[in-house]
Amino acid sequence: MGAQRLPEILVVDDETKMQAILKDILNSRGYHTRSVGLGREAIEWIRSSPVDAVLLDYKLPDMDGLQVLEAIREIDPLLPVVIISAYGDIPTAVQATRRGALDFIPKPLDQEVICRVVEKVLHRRSRDSQALIDIAGFRDRFGMIGSGAAMRRVYEIIDKVAPTDAAVLIEGETGTGKELAATAIHRLGPRAEGPLIAVNCSAMPRDLIESELFGYVKGAFTGANQNRIGKITAAHGGTLFLDEIGDMELSTQAKVLRTLESRQVCPLGTEESLPVDIRIIAATHHDLADRVKSGDFREDLLYRLNVVRLCMPALRDRREDIPHLMNHYLDHFCRRYDRPVKHLSHQALEILLQRDWPGNVRELRNVAEKLSIFVSDSLISPRDLQLVLELQGLSAEMTEHQTLRQARERFERDFILNQLIIHDWNVTATAEKLGIERTNLHRKIRQLRIDLSPRG
Ligand SMILES: Nc1ncnc2c1ncn2[C@@H]1O[C@H](COP(=O)(O)OP(=O)(O)OP(=O)(O)O)[C@@H](O)[C@H]1O
Ligand SMILES: [Mg+2]
Repeated sequence: MGAQRLPEILVVDDETKMQAILKDILNSRGYHTRSVGLGREAIEWIRSSPVDAVLLDYKLPDMDGLQVLEAIREIDPLLPVVIISAYGDIPTAVQATRRGALDFIPKPLDQEVICRVVEKVLHRRSRDSQALIDIAGFRDRFGMIGSGAAMRRVYEIIDKVAPTDAAVLIEGETGTGKELAATAIHRLGPRAEGPLIAVNCSAMPRDLIESELFGYVKGAFTGANQNRIGKITAAHGGTLFLDEIGDMELSTQAKVLRTLESRQVCPLGTEESLPVDIRIIAATHHDLADRVKSGDFREDLLYRLNVVRLCMPALRDRREDIPHLMNHYLDHFCRRYDRPVKHLSHQALEILLQRDWPGNVRELRNVAEKLSIFVSDSLISPRDLQLVLELQGLSAEMTEHQTLRQARERFERDFILNQLIIHDWNVTATAEKLGIERTNLHRKIRQLRIDLSPRG
């Protein structure tokens, strides 16, 4: 909503008397209104003109309210839509809220109620627009998507620590963006012009990682036919990113510690050390304190790395960012594969909001990639999503850290959640489709922590 112009409210009602009443009320509060009588006209208007909120009569001559709502969601997923319907029509209200209506005004109309609801949704509209502006700003500065409280804390720490030369230890589950955070810290720091060299400490056996890190001189071991500089030296003047440091072997840890303390690197096969000037960023999905306790990690190295600690939040702890991440990656992959732009239906989004995302943003990114490839419609339905999530459930990456029981529970939860949404949260109908007793389904819903309350 622009600051200079009055908020634009679109009234969609086929009764001219009702249009006039709403127009009077809204104009008296300083809103601009535009009235149309058909669903089709409403959709056309929204497509071509700025609108800040829609008041939509549920019963229109040409389309039903739900259809209009879905069409609006496709054009502008965040445009507030308020449904007007007969007093006491609870099923309609619930259904509409589930499909993305923001609020509900009962007939007969009450001036105070109308004004309160409109004010509320406009407030939300401006908050949502602000969130989009924030998202773009954070993306440009940090290379990450997210504007919720958890990510704001991450950005704050990055902003504070980047300009210093302090070592940073980034913790977080797999796929939470540890590498992105390391890149942001490097890019926003004094060494931005220098190299950022990453070493994955988990992927290599000890001998290999030591020759990678420290380099070697000719003849240091069989096969060392010439001198080779290591990654520590390559990072001179820049940043060394030690990824998955929790998996590094103790003997290598000792050598790394020596390098960090002396600021000298000693290639394999020589006693001669060379000075190096590097900043260290390390990352791990382990709890390093635990690994110290179990004797797998050196406490002195932990202290050395842990000058500033940055904890990347799991996706399930920042669900408010899921819609933005999904839009970002759908857009990204649709462009990459030259496919038409797609959006999630409100119901499909609801499924995503309830998932646990053990693979975090990487998992979400994979889902977005598959959706962009497999779905040909521009609006992604819960059924499309179910298909893709089933494919996803079988991917090796997601099963890596799971027991059979966890995998079964995840699949069961996704499956039941999908069916509930397809059946508009009608437990009886869903149970029938699934071929189980209603009470049995209720028990499963509780067990699998599925939230039955409607969402706006
Ligand atoms: N906030 C974010 N915004 C956009 N993309 C993200 C975000 N966080 C992670 N990603 C994407 O998710 C994927 C995984 O990110 P990254 O490699 O940084 O995670 P990680 O924590 O290092 O994972 P791992 O522990 O598996 O190494 C990448 O494709 C990355 O671009
Ligand atoms: Mg990583």
